[in-house]
Amino acid sequence: MIDATASAYVFDAYGTLFDVHAAIAHHRAAAGPEAERFSEIWRQKQLEYTWTLTLAGHYVDFWTLTERALDYAFARVPSVDHVLRARLLDAYLKLDAFADARAALAELKAQGARLAILSNGAPRMLAAAVEAAALSGLLDAVLSVDAVRMYKPRPEVYALAAERLAVKPSGIIFVSSNRWDVMGAASFGFDAFWVNRARLPDEYAELATPRQIPDLAALPRTAR
Ligand code: 2OP
Repeated sequence: MIDATASAYVFDAYGTLFDVHAAIAHHRAAAGPEAERFSEIWRQKQLEYTWTLTLAGHYVDFWTLTERALDYAFARVPSVDHVLRARLLDAYLKLDAFADARAALAELKAQGARLAILSNGAPRMLAAAVEAAALSGLLDAVLSVDAVRMYKPRPEVYALAAERLAVKPSGIIFVSSNRWDVMGAASFGFDAFWVNRARLPDEYAELATPRQIPDLAALPRTAR
């Protein structure tokens, strides 16, 4: 049952709590001069596959898409040695959390807030990342799109968080660095915050402008 007075903070995982470019950063020297381009292609293809498959009515889990996107990046950027494949995948399972992530979550938790992750990530990826970043004790729920077998920004994904946390959409403070994810969450009815670390230009002008914050430390401390 939904408690009309309840509220919660729900965080996107990849790009918001965990730095998707940390995997290549750990192997920067071995990857060579095209490391950044390689990592951008890896991330972009990983996301593209989630969107295209969902639009076509298919579902393949996020770990498999992460592998496929990595293989595509190797094919596009042959200067990066294929010997790094296993090491990059291993690093992706234990991505570094952003420097502000643990402190922000700990502060919100100390104030009595309920905290959750809602992510495209496959359950075992999320479990590994949360454990590696020592965030487990701070989170009340780690929710994966795997439960609905479709990807963000489908409304069914955001509905999963509202249902599992038993909080009405407007009671959820949703936090993501991915502007398109913020668009989906706000469109569903969440109180959405865009963590615009990279100071990117705004998008989706036809929909309500979300509140922008420069980092996780700037989140409002209101949810109980
Ligand atoms: C996530 O759902 C969008 O990759 C991002 O964690």
